[in-house]
Amino acid sequence: MRPFALLPVCFMLTAMILSFLCVFAGSKKGFMDDYHIVLLNTSRIGSSIFNTSSTHSGDNVFTTFIHNITDGIENELSSGFNSLAKQLGVHDCYSAHILDYCEGFFSPTPVPNATFSVGKITMNVTKCSNRTALYHFDPTQTLQRELNNSGHSDISLTDLHWPSAVDNGLAALRVAQRVAFVLYCIAIGMSSFALLISLISVFLAGRLSASINILVSFLAFLAIGLASAITTVVAVKAEHAINNHGAVVSISASKGIKFLILTWVATGLTLSSALVWYGECVIGRRKASKDLTSYTGGAVE
Ligand SMILES: *[C@@H]1O[C@H](CO)[C@@H](O)[C@H](O)[C@H]1NC(C)=O
Ligand SMILES: *[C@@H]1O[C@H](CO)[C@@H](O)[C@H](O)[C@H]1NC(C)=O
Ligand SMILES: *[C@@H]1O[C@H](CO)[C@@H](O)[C@H](O)[C@H]1NC(C)=O
Ligand SMILES: *[C@@H]1O[C@H](CO)[C@@H](O)[C@H](O)[C@H]1NC(C)=O
Ligand SMILES: *[C@@H]1O[C@H](CO)[C@@H](O)[C@H](O)[C@H]1NC(C)=O
Ligand SMILES: *[C@@H]1O[C@H](CO)[C@@H](O)[C@H](O)[C@H]1NC(C)=O
Repeated sequence: MRPFALLPVCFMLTAMILSFLCVFAGSKKGFMDDYHIVLLNTSRIGSSIFNTSSTHSGDNVFTTFIHNITDGIENELSSGFNSLAKQLGVHDCYSAHILDYCEGFFSPTPVPNATFSVGKITMNVTKCSNRTALYHFDPTQTLQRELNNSGHSDISLTDLHWPSAVDNGLAALRVAQRVAFVLYCIAIGMSSFALLISLISVFLAGRLSASINILVSFLAFLAIGLASAITTVVAVKAEHAINNHGAVVSISASKGIKFLILTWVATGLTLSSALVWYGECVIGRRKASKDLTSYTGGAVE
């Protein structure tokens, strides 16, 4: 019996559950849909046109559209009380998850005001895409499709001066999601294996089982550590790219802190599990050599 081995069992079990949640968070409306990798804020998309539309108009369909809709509500829109996205038929925000993306509107207001600070604004998810492993997160396509569906097919994202740097940031995100998905699957497989071996080791003392545990826990740690590192780097880079280049179309992005905490806690737990087994191995070896010394000491006597 090795009761202390229950500790890595707990670590691994929790890590496995958290890895599952990393993959399935936001996979359907209402299930942890605030655990996104990146959130794209399109609530004011195209509002930068307001500044230019007054100076030169007519050549751009979008400008005409703006002039049309702003007749009554121009002040409301330009002061940010209303969602321009809603007027255009697109959504306020799009969130990327490992398996899908969700879209929705900011609640209660898209732009913070005196009563509602940014922290109090939440995403009210209206729909999530179908869950498919290795899906494409392509908001460019989605936005254009939604524009077309809402009868604004004459407005293209080019009219809105959609920057290609934003597309590049999103392309990196797509690749990262695929790689991270595969790594999470490996991590889940490895941690279930480690869990099984740890459970057996509770009842079966021995250095061999401890060594196998170190190896398997470490492999689980490598897989989920790599998945966490990749999602973190890409979330940070996509946020930077979109915030730096998206200003011309008034879109912005933010990385999902909650998701990142989730994945790094899972990583920490697999590492702890590997370290506990490593410690057990070292202590076991010391004890074994001490036993051996006292044994030979006794023989000399
Ligand atoms: C519009 O112009 C005002 C002042 O001219 C400026 O402060 C604001 O940042 C501009 N808005 C956009 C979206 O470019
Ligand atoms: C602007 O409004 C007019 C009349 O309501 C309409 O015929 C025209 O199609 C509108 N243009 C755009 C770009 O929405
Ligand atoms: C979220 O959106 C739905 C549908 O538009 C609406 O009925 C609901 O009240 C919204 N929830 C919040 C918290 O704003
Ligand atoms: C969304 O973006 C707009 C324009 O960039 C910004 O004013 C607003 O604060 C953002 N909303 C949230 C909830 O971050
Ligand atoms: C802030 O926005 C909310 C929702 O649109 C509105 O009810 C509230 O009156 C606004 N507060 C201020 C101070 O403008
Ligand atoms: C999503 O799933 C529904 C029902 O399973 C299906 O009707 C629909 O075509 C799917 N959409 C896409 C884009 O695959």
